[in-house]
Amino acid sequence: MVHKTLCFGLLGILFAYYVYLPMPENIEEHWKIRIADAVTKMISLVATLFENIGLMKYEELFFTLSTCFLTKQVSDDNITVIDTDFSNIPVRLYLPKRKSERHRRAIIFFHGGAFVLGSCKMFFYDFLNRWTANKLDAVVVGVDYRLAPQYPFPIALEDCVSVVKFFLQDKIFTKYGVDPTRICISGDSSGGTLSAAVTHLLQDDPEFKDKIKAQALIYPCLQIIDTLTPSYREYEHGPLLPKEVAINLASLYLTKDKELPRAALRNEHMPQDSRHLFKFVNWSVFLPEKYKKNHVYTEPILGKLNASYPALVDSRVSPLLASDSKLQSLPLTYILTCEHDLFRDDGIIYATRIRNAGVQVTHEHIEEGIHGALSFTTAPLFLNLGFRIRDKYISWLEKNL
Ligand SMILES: *[C@@H]1O[C@H](CO)[C@@H](O)[C@H](O)[C@H]1NC(C)=O
Ligand SMILES: *[C@@H]1O[C@H](CO)[C@@H](O)[C@H](O)[C@H]1NC(C)=O
Ligand SMILES: *[C@@H]1O[C@H](CO)[C@@H](O)[C@H](O)[C@H]1NC(C)=O
Repeated sequence: MVHKTLCFGLLGILFAYYVYLPMPENIEEHWKIRIADAVTKMISLVATLFENIGLMKYEELFFTLSTCFLTKQVSDDNITVIDTDFSNIPVRLYLPKRKSERHRRAIIFFHGGAFVLGSCKMFFYDFLNRWTANKLDAVVVGVDYRLAPQYPFPIALEDCVSVVKFFLQDKIFTKYGVDPTRICISGDSSGGTLSAAVTHLLQDDPEFKDKIKAQALIYPCLQIIDTLTPSYREYEHGPLLPKEVAINLASLYLTKDKELPRAALRNEHMPQDSRHLFKFVNWSVFLPEKYKKNHVYTEPILGKLNASYPALVDSRVSPLLASDSKLQSLPLTYILTCEHDLFRDDGIIYATRIRNAGVQVTHEHIEEGIHGALSFTTAPLFLNLGFRIRDKYISWLEKNL
């Protein structure tokens, strides 16, 4: 009893501390953000504590909590929802019920969660995909790719590619009444990473080239080679996604070795012979002055890690490492970035590079945006910002897909 009281007392003090941390001025409904931010930071702290006393691994606490948000397949008046498998990968399908004169467009959605968390069945993704299907009269496919650390890179990506290839079959188009010329791949956060990587892989594959009409990337993470971009510097402590949490979780996609996240936090994780790759992500070249502010570009410190992780130099992990000639073959692209987000500069640089390569790209930047806002459109937060992001994404799809 005394222990419990002490525990709750300590957590209460911590929460009070976190909830009063400084927050950017222009964030609306900032109390909601403060609470969500404080909760994330407390989970991270408790997860670190549990790992240190040997109770469970850091990511296990995040994972366990995230499973509370799973939903069952529930159809409604407008949408039939079906849990099934595509090529042995679990997917959740959203099929509009109303009669359609013509074949429907389709959206294949990859959820976020740093490659270690999440599911298309979590209630806010279920809500988003259901909404998309209803608003656009589209077939939507949520994909439950396998997660790290149990299934490290490239398994998540291979699962996503398998699902898309399975979907791109005439018999599937016929079965679900899909128009094969109106298919979009989309995702948020690490789901945006996967979307970008899948799109590259399909464009490289003669059998699937140009079968995707568009890609939509919502606050995507697009590179892990430079963790000192201005946005990484400015939003190191959040809101919502502190650098340490992002790196600790996402590094599990590559390895369970703790050496990598430790080095990545200091931006000293890249191998000796990787300098040539930095030209693809050099923010001092690609970022507009507005975002550079007074930050000074620092040359990467290379070759400090003894172990080698080939995935660090792989464009399937960091889609920004694709050459300009590869970018030229990309389809119509939508990129949404948020100002208060570690990955802000990834998205801005990608938009710039893709546009320079001659590809049609729509880049929407949300000045008061925070990472993950799309996941707060349901109870208890009902975040306005989340609805705005959702509506921008949907209206782009409506006009372009
Ligand atoms: C069905 O669609 C209509 C029109 O978009 C909407 O007003 C209604 O709320 C939807 N029903 C459900 C259960 O989502
Ligand atoms: C990045 O760009 C700056 C010029 O803005 C240049 O001085 C620097 O050498 C570049 N660094 C790398 C690693 O490409
Ligand atoms: C890397 O290897 C060097 C020499 O073998 C050793 O001194 C150093 O501690 C190692 N560093 C790490 C991070 O393991």
